[in-house]
Amino acid sequence: MKGIILAGGAGSRLYPLTLVASKQLQPVYDKPMVYYPLTTLIEGGIRDLCLISTPQDLPRFQQLLGDGSRFGLSIEYREQPKPEGIAQAFLIAESFIGRDNVTLILGDNIFYGGDVFARAFADFREGATIFGYHVNDPERYGVVEFDASGQAVSIEEKPKQPRSNYAVPGLYIYDNSVVATTKALKPSARGELEISDLNVAYLRRGNLRVVRLSRGFAWLDAGTSSSLHEASAYVQTIEKRAGIKIGCPEEAAFHSGFLQLPQLTERVAQMPRCEYREYLEREVIAEARRLA
Ligand code: DAU
Repeated sequence: MKGIILAGGAGSRLYPLTLVASKQLQPVYDKPMVYYPLTTLIEGGIRDLCLISTPQDLPRFQQLLGDGSRFGLSIEYREQPKPEGIAQAFLIAESFIGRDNVTLILGDNIFYGGDVFARAFADFREGATIFGYHVNDPERYGVVEFDASGQAVSIEEKPKQPRSNYAVPGLYIYDNSVVATTKALKPSARGELEISDLNVAYLRRGNLRVVRLSRGFAWLDAGTSSSLHEASAYVQTIEKRAGIKIGCPEEAAFHSGFLQLPQLTERVAQMPRCEYREYLEREVIAEARRLA
């Protein structure tokens, strides 16, 4: 399974914050936003990644994440010159995807709790797997409707009259036919290759699985000033209460076996003295030595 992080877009809803740094580089409490979706993929065992962003922002992501080796990953970079739709990611990353299955995660989606994605990656065989999450304001999202037996029957992008309260979060798993299926899509009225149209194509073929995320699971999107602030407050609350970090790629890479203890120790030693470094030393390195 390969992974794509889509981190482009105009960022207009966060203006003027996005004048000098893109949305996905903004802080969510104590880390850049993109660390959270990156960590979600690492926790799921995905090691080959491609990050897509605008030509202006791509160098900053490269500065932040490098070639991925600092996390035991391989990260390639691709440009999206214009925001012509989420599904365009599969055309831009066609050579990266090659013959593999692929997971796409949006760079402004934050997930926390459980191993539902890791299980979905491991169980994935063919078609597409997406998720449904109960929200208060489904009209802001892709919305999935279920029949009495729990089968998905419709998906609509930002419907004025939503048929359910289940929004589709920004993590999507596809088999290798995703590139061909995307090539057959027509741009929507707003000129974008819509991710919901792609999911409808799999639904029509009878090849779409929709997993409902449980109530205990948190999905935050940090796309507006208020949701960005709420996401920061949420992360701070959990981190302070539990003494753990959410969205720490070094920690996830260590637990997924992508970084061994000596490599992690070396990486941490290069960090300036800060709370992030102290956390990794105390909660990850010292803990691993204690258990060894
Ligand atoms: O957050 C989940 C929702 O994301 C889904 O429920 C919707 O079905 C899906 O369309 C999307 O809705 P948004 O309104 O959040 O889409 P937005 O245009 O804001 O794009 C989401 C992220 O993807 C954002 O961080 C920017 C990035 N993006 C978007 C487009 C259209 C790109 O990098 N390139 C693009 O062309």
